Amino acid sequence: MEVKDKVIVVTGGASGIGKSLCERFAMDGAHAVVAADIDTAGVNSTLSSIENNTNGLGLQCDVANEDAVKDLVSVTLREFGRIDLFCSNAGIFTAGGEEVSNDRWKNIWDINVMSHIFAARAVLPSMLERGEGYLLNTSSAAGLLSQVGSAPYSVTKHAAIGFAEWLSITYGNRGIKVSVLCPQAVRTAMTAGGDGGVAGLDGMLEPEDLATTVIEALGNEQFLVLPHPEVLTYMRRKTDDYDRWLGGMRRLYDKFAEIYKRRQ
Ligand SMILES: NC(=O)c1ccc[n+]([C@@H]2O[C@H](COP(=O)([O-])OP(=O)(O)OC[C@H]3O[C@@H](n4cnc5c(N)ncnc54)[C@H](O)[C@@H]3O)[C@@H](O)[C@H]2O)c1
Repeated sequence: MEVKDKVIVVTGGASGIGKSLCERFAMDGAHAVVAADIDTAGVNSTLSSIENNTNGLGLQCDVANEDAVKDLVSVTLREFGRIDLFCSNAGIFTAGGEEVSNDRWKNIWDINVMSHIFAARAVLPSMLERGEGYLLNTSSAAGLLSQVGSAPYSVTKHAAIGFAEWLSITYGNRGIKVSVLCPQAVRTAMTAGGDGGVAGLDGMLEPEDLATTVIEALGNEQFLVLPHPEVLTYMRRKTDDYDRWLGGMRRLYDKFAEIYKRRQ
């Protein structure tokens, strides 16, 4: 899919990866870019950087709230008539393991997983009716591998990939394209003040460079979007010999454990 002339929604559009995607889509000639986020001031800042290049619309939306996601879709359909690409990108990080409180597990589950389900539920009917549409869901390399130091992030990002696979299998023959974005460390508010820890071992990517990878992947309509190509090698090692891979990850854990314990 080329983004030129398309109507595109981006959640988490106020900051980091989402903001960069909004800016790149606008620069590449999207007909409309809707930036949605809980952070209204951030949405306004994104809007001011895109509105010269596209029909920009900023909407406040908590992606963990199904009614808010429904509204986001219906307002966009009312304003622009269709949604060609929905980027379900908003997400959060929570450090820790099984001891993390139920409330915090539920919060990250709602934001990192249910948001994708709410988005699909709201946007698919109009896409299926038209026989075309594209869902780009942001997961993480942590969803293919693991996140040393964070069980909630590992688990929710795995679930996000599971749902994206399922969408592609179920709707792929009805004109719906699905991609899942799985970066390692990207320089955003989420990684601010650090080097990305384990996720930063292969370097910290600038969000603008990630946006270039996304444009290429959308062009090829490929499912798996890997801004850090090393991730494919790690995936292959994991499937080739799971126990050996776990041993390697334990060595990484030992190396980084002190840092993560200090942060908890
Ligand atoms: N930065 C990285 O290293 C990295 C790596 C892999 C995956 N990711 C994923 O990329 C996505 C974007 O993260 P980022 O790095 O740009 O971080 P970021 O913190 O810069 O941006 C995330 C945005 O999501 C918004 N948000 C949070 N909760 C929300 C909610 N309930 N409803 C609506 N908006 C909400 C925040 O206000 C923020 O604007 C996330 O899903 C994240 O897990 C990031």
